[in-house]
Amino acid sequence: MSVKEALLKTLAENKDSYSSGAALAGKLGVSRNAVWKAVKSLEADGYSIESVTSKGYRLSADNNRLSEKFISAKLTAKSLGKSIKVYDEIDSTNSAAKEMGTAGAAHGTVIIAEKQTMGRGRLGRTFVSPSGTGLYMSIIIRPEINLEDAGFITSTAAVAVAEAVEKLIDREVQIKWVNDLYMNERKICGILTEASLGLEMKSLDMAVIGIGINVRSVKDVMPEELSSIATSIEDETGIAVDRNELCAEVLNRLEYWLDKIESHEFLFEYRRREYLTGKLITANVGGETLVGNALGIDNNANLMIELPDGEIRHLGSGEASLCRVKK
Ligand code: BTN
Repeated sequence: MSVKEALLKTLAENKDSYSSGAALAGKLGVSRNAVWKAVKSLEADGYSIESVTSKGYRLSADNNRLSEKFISAKLTAKSLGKSIKVYDEIDSTNSAAKEMGTAGAAHGTVIIAEKQTMGRGRLGRTFVSPSGTGLYMSIIIRPEINLEDAGFITSTAAVAVAEAVEKLIDREVQIKWVNDLYMNERKICGILTEASLGLEMKSLDMAVIGIGINVRSVKDVMPEELSSIATSIEDETGIAVDRNELCAEVLNRLEYWLDKIESHEFLFEYRRREYLTGKLITANVGGETLVGNALGIDNNANLMIELPDGEIRHLGSGEASLCRVKK
């Protein structure tokens, strides 16, 4: 580890207090001048470091830059996040993760970007991914689970992200079936899981869980046509959540739930946050449009919808939204 990396790690671990140049020099085993040079180099990289005479150095509270060191400092997960790669700009973290996974990248490898130029959403859509406001991350997993449980990966990820966000803002977040997170009726997060099967198609070789969260205000960067359906955590709460902390917390919660995916316990957490349940909805499933009452989530994480003739359908995939009453 270079002096600069070691300094960043130490400052990230001691975010709430100042560390004197002498103490840092002693800890890192270098001269005070080398510490000063490393501070300047970190500042040149975009990190904001407070320097106070007689107190020393401290990372500014609002260090809005994604960094492997900041994330690792908050990580309790053992396998997820063992290797973290942060890019300033990339086409799509999911595309990169799929390539890396195919080339043999280990379980738990995480790819993150400040900005995506071709962020991908479900159903072939684009995921708008401007710089500095979002958390765009893809996690390569190679879980030893049967194919039936592999179908629950996206739902467990939705629960993990909801819990991570809630921990940092102390407010409840809703999950809109299948995989969107909502606050105040608008989307703050989408999840795109892409899997590859083993040769005999009986087991999961690898899956890439792609998570896109609008964290900081998107008011000035979100295209006009999306403003009625998408929002951000900051725009809804006024809280400027630290994206590094959020990233670590997502990985912590995701590891917890993936480890017990076979118990299906996550369903309880999914159900109690599900946004469509009890409402009149419209769903598009394989080209068919259904209108009915959303009854809830069944044991396979399918959405149950009751049609006007009383028939109950269990939807495994598709797109659903509230029926808006026209005034
Ligand atoms: C959706 O809402 O339809 C899913 C959006 C998923 C977006 C994330 S951002 C990180 C990862 N990389 C991508 O290209 N997509 C996912």
